[in-house]
Amino acid sequence: MSDNKVASKKLSGAGLRGQSAGETSLCTVGQSGSGLTYCGYDIADLAGNSTFEEVAYLLFNGELPNEKELSTYKAELAGMRDLPQALKEVLKHIPKDAHPMDVMRTGCSFLGNLEPESDFSEQNKAANRLLSAFPAIMCYWYKFSHHGVEIECSSNEDSLAGHFLRLLNGETPSEQHQRVMDVSLILYAEHEFNASTFTARVCASTLSDMFSCITGAIGTLRGPLHGGANEAAMDMIQSFKSPADAKEQMAGMLARKEKIMGFGHAIYRTSDPRNVIIKAWSEKLAAENGDTSLYDISVACEEFMWDSKKLFCNADFFHASTYNYMGIPTKLFTPIFVCSRLTGWAAHVMEQRSNNRIIRPSADYTGSEPRKVNAISER
Ligand code: COA
Repeated sequence: MSDNKVASKKLSGAGLRGQSAGETSLCTVGQSGSGLTYCGYDIADLAGNSTFEEVAYLLFNGELPNEKELSTYKAELAGMRDLPQALKEVLKHIPKDAHPMDVMRTGCSFLGNLEPESDFSEQNKAANRLLSAFPAIMCYWYKFSHHGVEIECSSNEDSLAGHFLRLLNGETPSEQHQRVMDVSLILYAEHEFNASTFTARVCASTLSDMFSCITGAIGTLRGPLHGGANEAAMDMIQSFKSPADAKEQMAGMLARKEKIMGFGHAIYRTSDPRNVIIKAWSEKLAAENGDTSLYDISVACEEFMWDSKKLFCNADFFHASTYNYMGIPTKLFTPIFVCSRLTGWAAHVMEQRSNNRIIRPSADYTGSEPRKVNAISER
């Protein structure tokens, strides 16, 4: 398909909406607490009182780490940040105008060639390696293709959030920016059977390797109806001149039946529990920045969509202004999502493997009645 237009059929059960496709002990969406829990912990609690490394440990092991476990885990992750030279060479060959999600997909897949998961006893090692390497895959390609600079891929930063910001900006980030990135990574880490996670589980159910499962998930997250929404939201917000202009333009978009990126959700019905958390950080960063226009326009969009369509911001919408206030290039928004969601994907791969049956649903047939092949001269 050349123009990305797809027919959307509202069949009963279309998109498998509302159907259970398996069991998980990792996450609930729209069921308890503020609406999102990881292994029984509410997202608001985790975002307020934990770090991304603690959440990664929780998803991979089922329990939050104690102090000793956390420091051992962080040391293990920090030791795996650098990239093999062969992968750097591949990244150098990817052009500047490549889609950054294609860079992540290639980086993940190529690392799977260099350091394959030879059997499932290595699944935690493979997941942790990807977790440590993803910030460098993203930043090494970005800095080389856009600025001609070959960056150092390891760093002494204490956290993955700080490590990523250092690779991007070449300096230790402020405490505040590190914490915002940490919270953002926590918010994006896991979300039950969303499209990309389900892709990873389907792949895992064939007993494929971790790198293939994650590569497939990246390809699924790439689509604008899933992970690409934060970038699309940024482009839209930046195209509005003021809060009043935002409302006027959005009215036109709705009249033309355009989808407004960063709004709505397949499961949540009245709000996305991640929005209130990232919105508060956006407001703080706006105040720190002095120019609050991006935040003000975003709030106007939120009000307009709720008043006119009862549609609410999902996690992506205020991530756009938040990342922009931190000076993060828009094209890296979705790859950051990858750096975080990898934890959920890998945890689901491990869970699928622990109680596996190949995922193979059926389809309702809507084609021709049984018929015979005519001779080609008679068709
Ligand atoms: N802008 C405009 N209209 C929207 C909308 C949006 N962002 N999200 C939903 N709607 C409309 C739908 O078109 C539908 O209208 P219709 O019944 O007249 O066709 C109605 O609201 C109900 O949609 P719903 O069934 O709740 O959505 P879905 O489950 O099919 O799709 C999304 C969910 C997330 C794919 C959808 O809301 C969307 O495309 N959002 C924009 C992309 C985005 O932000 N994705 C990130 C998700 S975290």
